[in-house]
This record gives sequence, C-alpha cells and structure tokens, in this order.
Amino acid sequence: MSEPRQILVTSALPYANGSIHLGHMVEYVQTDMWVRFQKHRGNQCIYVCADDAHGSAIMLRAEKEGITPEQLIANVQLEHSGDFADFLVEFDNFHSTHAEENRELSTQIYLRLRDAGHIATRSITQYFDPEKQMFLADRFIKGTCPKCGTEDQYGDNCEKCGATYAPTDLKNPKSAISGATPVLKDSQHFFFKLPDFQAMLQTWTRSGTLQDAVANKIAEWLDAGLQQWDISRDAPYFGFEIPDEPGKYFYVWLDAPIGYMASFKNLCARRPELDFDAFWGKDSTAELYHFIGKDIVNFHALFWPAMLEGAGYRKPTGINVHGYLTVNGQKMSKSRGTFIKARTYLDHLSPEYLRYYYAAKLGKGVDDLDLNLDDFVQKVNSDLVGKVVNIASRCAGFIHKGNAGVLVAGNAAPELTEAFLAATPGIAEAYEARDFARAMREIMGLADRANAWIADKAPWSLAKQEGKQDEVQAVCAVGINLFRQLIIFLKPVLPLLAADAEAFLNVAPLTWNDHASLLANHQLNAFQPLMTRIDPVKVQAMTDASKEDLTASQTDTGSAAPQGNGELAKDPLSAEIDFDAFAAVDLRVALILKAEAVEGADKLLRLTLDIGDEQRNVFSGIKSAYPNPAELEGRLTMMIANLKPRKMRFGISEGMVMAAGPGGEEIYLLSPDTGAKPGQRIK
Ligand code: 2FM
Ligand code: ZN
Repeated sequence: MSEPRQILVTSALPYANGSIHLGHMVEYVQTDMWVRFQKHRGNQCIYVCADDAHGSAIMLRAEKEGITPEQLIANVQLEHSGDFADFLVEFDNFHSTHAEENRELSTQIYLRLRDAGHIATRSITQYFDPEKQMFLADRFIKGTCPKCGTEDQYGDNCEKCGATYAPTDLKNPKSAISGATPVLKDSQHFFFKLPDFQAMLQTWTRSGTLQDAVANKIAEWLDAGLQQWDISRDAPYFGFEIPDEPGKYFYVWLDAPIGYMASFKNLCARRPELDFDAFWGKDSTAELYHFIGKDIVNFHALFWPAMLEGAGYRKPTGINVHGYLTVNGQKMSKSRGTFIKARTYLDHLSPEYLRYYYAAKLGKGVDDLDLNLDDFVQKVNSDLVGKVVNIASRCAGFIHKGNAGVLVAGNAAPELTEAFLAATPGIAEAYEARDFARAMREIMGLADRANAWIADKAPWSLAKQEGKQDEVQAVCAVGINLFRQLIIFLKPVLPLLAADAEAFLNVAPLTWNDHASLLANHQLNAFQPLMTRIDPVKVQAMTDASKEDLTASQTDTGSAAPQGNGELAKDPLSAEIDFDAFAAVDLRVALILKAEAVEGADKLLRLTLDIGDEQRNVFSGIKSAYPNPAELEGRLTMMIANLKPRKMRFGISEGMVMAAGPGGEEIYLLSPDTGAKPGQRIK
C-alpha cells in the first residue's frame, strides 16, 4: 500500500452579495465529488472555501439594504453554508475573506512582495463621483456608446454593438450609483509587478499544472507580455487597508485567493493534526488544487502563483478549470425560469439527482455543461432508479421472504464478480482525472450487466418452482453483492444513497477498498425504498418558482436566440433508427392489476400495472375497445417502461402499453405468450 497522500483542495470563493445558483453548483459538486473520492480512498484530503466578502459591490449593496457590510456578509454566509450543506457539499471549513487570518496573511504577503521590490506605485486618472465622493469602477459608469450612439451602456463595452472602450470615451457619462456626472481625478495606485515572474510562469504553466486548453490560452497572454497589476483601491472601500498607506485598500482580488490560505489557517486552529506550513511552506510535499471556472483563470494561473512565489510560499499543484452551465442548451435565463437558485432547486428536488446528472456530464475538460431538464429526468430515473436501486429492490424481498434476510455465502456468478473487480482501477482512474462522465458510464455499464444477469436467472420465476429456493438465494446474494459494489463506486457522488444502502446492507460505512470483499452469511436489514423517480411535475414547479424569484430589479441574462436549428422534423414512421436507439427502449411485460375509466375522459383508461419491481400508472386511449375495463384486470400486456412520464390533465402517465389496430373498437392490446412474467424485458 502506498502512503496516503496529503491534499488540500479549494473551490472558488463565492461573492457574499448574492445567492448560489445551479451554475455555481457545478463547481462545488465537482470539487466535492473529487474530495469525497480522495477521502474514500484513504487519502488525507482537506477541502476549504470561504465567502469572498470584500469590494465595492458588497459595500453598496449593504448600504442599499440599510445594514453594515458585516451584517450583510454574516447573513449571506448563513445562506451559502445552508445551500452547500443541503447539496451535500462537505467543506472541512467554510470561512470568510473578511477575517483576521486573512488580514494577517494579506498584510504579510504584501509586505514580503514590497520588500522584495515587486510593488510599484504611480498615479492614475479615473472617473470620480463628486456626490458619493468615490472613484467609480467601470461597471458603475453609464453613458452613450461612442461608436453606435446607444444610450445607457456600461463603462467598458456596448451591449448593442459590442465595442470595447475606456470609460472616458463614453458620451454623456453618469455615475450609476448617484446619477451625478463624474469628474476625472488622479490618485496614487499600487501595482504588483507581474512581469518580474514571466520566466517562472512560462515554466510553471507548462509543467502539468493546467489542462492543455488553459495552458494554451495562458501562453497567448504570456507571449503578448505581462502587465503590472493594479492591486489598490481608494476609500471608501470595504476591505483591508494597505499597511502604511492610510485610505488605500487591497483590491478584492488581491486578498480573495489568500482567503484559501486563511480558511485553512482557521481550520488548523481547530484541528491540531494539521500543520499550516506542511501545506503552504515552500518545501511542502502536500498537493494543492484549486477548482475554478474558466472566467477567472488569469487570477489563478498568473497572479496567484506569482504572488505565492514572490512571498516565499509553495505554488499550486494544479488548477482544475471547468466550463459554464447552460440550461436546455441556452444561457440561464430568469424569464425562462432556468436561472435556478440552489434553494429553489432544493425546495422541489433531491440534491443527489443533480449531483448524479452533473457527474454524468462532467468530463475533465473545460467544455460547458448542459442541464437539459428532460434528459435530467430521464437519465436519473433510468440510471439510478431503473438500474442501480432496481437491483436491490429486485433481490431484497426474496432474501427476506425465503431466508429471513440472511444473505447466503458462495458466489454463483464468479465471472461477473471478476468483471466488477477488473473494472475498478479504470473507475478509480477516471475519478482521479476528474472524468466523472467516464466513471459514471463504466459504473452504469456494470449495473446493466448485473441487471441482465439477474433477469436471465429470473429469481421471481425460480421462487415459484419446487426445490429452487437455494438457487433463488444464491442469485439474490450475487445481486445484493453487486449492488454493494456499485454503491462503493457511486459513494463520492451519492453520499445519502450510500448511507441508506449501508443501513439496508447492515454494514459499517463503506470505503473504496471494500470493493475487494463480498458479503456472505450476512444479516440484511429491512429494505426501504432507496430512491424515488423524479416526477417531472416537480421540475416544472421548480422552473415556475424560478420565474417567481424574478424581482423588478433583475434583468434577463438569457440570450434571445430562437430555439431549435430550423430543420424540419423527420417523419417518425419512415425514419430508420439504429440499434442503439432500439436498445434504449425498455420494453417490459406488465400485469394489469387494475383498469378503470377516467372520469371526464371519453377515450382513456387508467391502468395500474405491475412491472416486477414497481407499479406504474398509465393512461391509455383504448376505452372504446374495452368498454368493460375490469375484464383487462389480471391480463398480461407489454409496455414501454422508460418513456418519459407525461403530465396529463388527470395525472401522470408513467409509460405506454402496446396495442395495434386502426382505432375505435378495433384496438388490440398486445400480450406475451403464457409463461411470461411481469417485469421481464422484451428483447
Ligand atoms: O469570481 C468570483 O466569484 C470570485 N468571488 C472568485 C474568487 S476565487 C478566489 F480567488 F478567491
Ligand atoms: Zn455601441
């Protein structure tokens, strides 16, 4: 066994002036899954974060709310912590950049940089709001575009024509804070001399610390030559005052990454086994990873390593960059209800659904990730409920009924068990490389094989045959053991499901290494449903509520691009489908438990179907052929079990039964030959 690794991990610090939304959540879920994987493997992995509490935006928002910035950031910290905890994002510490540790470290780093000659000063001219008595950042100045004449444009670019310019180029400039006409004013600024670190950055950014696409982007900046970075802001500003420079403050982006260190330092005070220098000292052998979005690469891959180097600290082992979130293929949009806050999601849906969906879509690259809400419902229901949980729910009953809940010893599927074992290193590699999509694909491939094996053995048929009880128990013991393996693999993504599965399996918390053993002669606990299907009605309710979250002051961030690609849809009857499309259809034998007319519907029957491991409610337009619906009860038919549930006026239809004929009285419900059993798959 190799020594456990020491790893420190961070996610970007969220600003303390707004709510967490599903776009933010991509990064926190991604990081959390990676951290949980490392812990699961027995490594020492520490995950810290904090609220990014400084800057003029926070100062102005507090002022608007009539509270102090300290009150604002305390309120927001409470909200953020609750959102993260409920999304099962488990930080070892969630701190704030407005904290004593951060003041001390920021001061120390600045002084070390200054004393080593890496700070320059010079006067710059900027717009100043004479009413508010403050300098105005570009986004606080509005005016008429110098290029196309559009009014009400921000100080650095025009939304209409896309021109970029200096705020001083704007015609008729106004302060977006007070409405006053700004005046130009000089002040002394402090600069970090980034070009001093050009050679170091050239090497460091090509030493395996960055994904190729990111390293290439950075190379463009390096080739163009680095500029000094302005790290000071004038009072009034909410932040830390620069030592020996009254009225001058550190720019929020100077002390934000130092917040990673500060959060860790704060944790060290509570966890004596952690040594700050062992993680941050120049000779540290610990690994350090920052997970970030692609919009803040320059801060993390240029400024930050240069600051660390200049101040005598270690540099990061890796910067892990992800893309943006789109919803239904488009930018999140408040008017479409796809700008979804973390809390709004949680009000309607379980966090593990989204964690799994993100995992299934997150590769190791910087590509954007699309949350397609229909696909989300389909994928979670089909993979987690239909494949993984299904294995346990199919097998548990027989073990409880036939053997008092005791899982027998022996291995009736040595080849399959071996295949699971052989897949383990590949799954671990995929997790390690943050290729969660590959890990999920491999895990679901194993789940498919387990389900196919069980379906082939059909314990539900064996159970009805004389003298086959031992075989039933042997098959179900394999099923439960394979289910346990899948849970071990999925635990970093689905910690709640894993905890519930551990309770059912009656085992101590599972770790990665447990995959090498099997349960034998083992008492199981009663089986409780481990996960329910996503009801699409709840997804609709979530997007409806997100529209309600809209306040008059918020603007739509969505693009106005029309939906679809303009191609004409093909005739579905003449189009050929490939084998994969056919194989994706989950056709099952269904037993009609109940068939009844639906009040207010001329053509519909409501069917309650038994498909082996669960019951389904299906509305079918076959009433005219079956005026006495009760005659259908007890009869077998065939259904498509993975059809997207459809919300109808009378309820949700969870699949479709198969019938032939032109319609009216001539509708013929299809039936399998005698001997078929509910739940059997049609192949
Ligand atoms: O872009 C942002 O949301 C910043 N608050 C991220 C800061 S990350 C770190 F450097 F502090
Ligand atoms: Zn313009």
